[in-house]
Amino acid sequence: MKLDPEPKTRYHDIAHQLAQRGVSRREFLRFCAVMTAALALPQHYVGKVAAAVAGAKKPVVVWLEFQDCCGNTESFLRANSPGVGEIVLDLLSVEYHETIMAAAGHQAEEARAAAIEEPGYLVVVEGSIPTKDNGVYCTIGGRSALDILQEVGKGAAAIISAGTCSAFGGIPAAAPNPTGAVSVQDVLPNAAIVNLPGCPMNVVNLTATVVHYLTFGQLPAVDQFKRPLFAYGARIHDNCERRGHFDAGQFVEEWGDSGHRQGWCLYKMGCKGPATFHNCPQAEWNDATSWPIGAGHGCVGCSEPNFWDTMMPAYRRLPNVPGFGVEATADQVGLIVAGAVGGAFALHGLAAAIRAKANPVKKTEMKVEGN
Ligand code: SF4
Ligand code: F3S
Repeated sequence: MKLDPEPKTRYHDIAHQLAQRGVSRREFLRFCAVMTAALALPQHYVGKVAAAVAGAKKPVVVWLEFQDCCGNTESFLRANSPGVGEIVLDLLSVEYHETIMAAAGHQAEEARAAAIEEPGYLVVVEGSIPTKDNGVYCTIGGRSALDILQEVGKGAAAIISAGTCSAFGGIPAAAPNPTGAVSVQDVLPNAAIVNLPGCPMNVVNLTATVVHYLTFGQLPAVDQFKRPLFAYGARIHDNCERRGHFDAGQFVEEWGDSGHRQGWCLYKMGCKGPATFHNCPQAEWNDATSWPIGAGHGCVGCSEPNFWDTMMPAYRRLPNVPGFGVEATADQVGLIVAGAVGGAFALHGLAAAIRAKANPVKKTEMKVEGN
């Protein structure tokens, strides 16, 4: 990797920045390998990704925070994964982020105005946009979120909706939606948008999206909800470490029972993994230490549109959740495994159970009193 002695413009060369922060070439290449895997690219793309990222100019980013809980900013700032936390921040030149920037008042407004003069700037939006009563329910510097988004989004090269609120309206838009909250794509239907839903989004997916943008000059391929396929192309249920137990008809029936302590399937406890598309089983959270199901809690479907209206209550099994595509109900699976010895499903279940035994759940189970 050739390092520029000095950055030539206000866009700082990423390789230069990383070297200044003491990130070694080995660490950088490991990061690129992790990103290549996250993007579901063949391993021989690592060199291409490394060359593109090292030579790229940091894209200017305007981060808008509207009607939200700040969880995505927390996720962004807590970026540890994939092991080189600095890289995540060094990929982006965040020129405006009212929650974390030092500037305030008019200075902050001026920083935003200057940032959107930069060619090719990116916008990250966190939170939904209230539209009722002219958007008075979220204002910054005397202007509504709606007004600001329309101005800032107009000239953006791309907009990343970080988290379920900006991607789909999220909890603020749940019935009865008192503020008339909508998503970014509702406000700017013709903009180049990629949605990274999740409550919050996983910073690994934000990083991988930016790496894809730097490497290929375009946003990644998306599904019908504008979610990148590399992160939202598969159901949680299909990659879940407890899937073998689902197939074997082994379900947790009560929090803290022996099935729970052995890492059995959480479907009967309300897990929405069969109806949720997200890469949580692979990307995990908190520096890839664990994820909701790995920690012993069911998925609540936080990355799906309208999850708060369609996936709740969190702890009740909802076999009629719209789009629920599980091949058989938990009760059917249990009956088949118990009664149809030698049947194809039972054989599959047995094989899955053997697999599960050979590869026990690797995460520490939720600590239960008295165990
Ligand atoms: Fe995993 Fe939930 Fe599917 Fe069970 S129902 S296998 S816990 S995703
Ligand atoms: Fe959300 Fe389910 Fe992942 S609750 S964080 S989509 S495991």
